[in-house]
Amino acid sequence: MSVKTILTEPNKLLRQISIVVTEVGSVEQKLMNDMLDTMYDANGIGLAAIQIGVPKRIIVMDISKDENKKEPMYFVNPVIKKKNLEKSTYEEGCLSVPNQFAEIDRPSKCEIEYLDYDGKKQLLKAEGLLATCIQHEIDHLEGILFIDYLSKLKKSMIIKKLSKIKPNRIIV
Ligand code: NI
Repeated sequence: MSVKTILTEPNKLLRQISIVVTEVGSVEQKLMNDMLDTMYDANGIGLAAIQIGVPKRIIVMDISKDENKKEPMYFVNPVIKKKNLEKSTYEEGCLSVPNQFAEIDRPSKCEIEYLDYDGKKQLLKAEGLLATCIQHEIDHLEGILFIDYLSKLKKSMIIKKLSKIKPNRIIV
């Protein structure tokens, strides 16, 4: 298990559409382990494989928010089967859009079909934070970031800000 570098916007890779996983084997499981390590290290609650540069339809999440009681979730090839019309609003952030937050409306409930860590087909009925988080992560698989839902002006301001942050800048 190891912590990987998380790509940040602007980066063309984050805009790539991730490819369907044909088999959940040891390579994919190792990837999921690394993704989870990377996510915990960055204090995130969700991470898509593309955020560490791997264009596979794989997501890890842990919305338990409890250091001592980790509840990792793994989603391979997740597909939204149903979503309700009612929306809920959360202030969202993203490990690939550091230090930026915005209120985003998304369907408040959804049903997700996916393969789990062992490659078994599962169906999840999600609501609340879980529903929002999984939809945010599935967006990553389509190359969509939460800032894409904002006005052009707001979005370009955020990207401009992020472009100024040099990855190797140090403050001592
Ligand atoms: Ni994100």
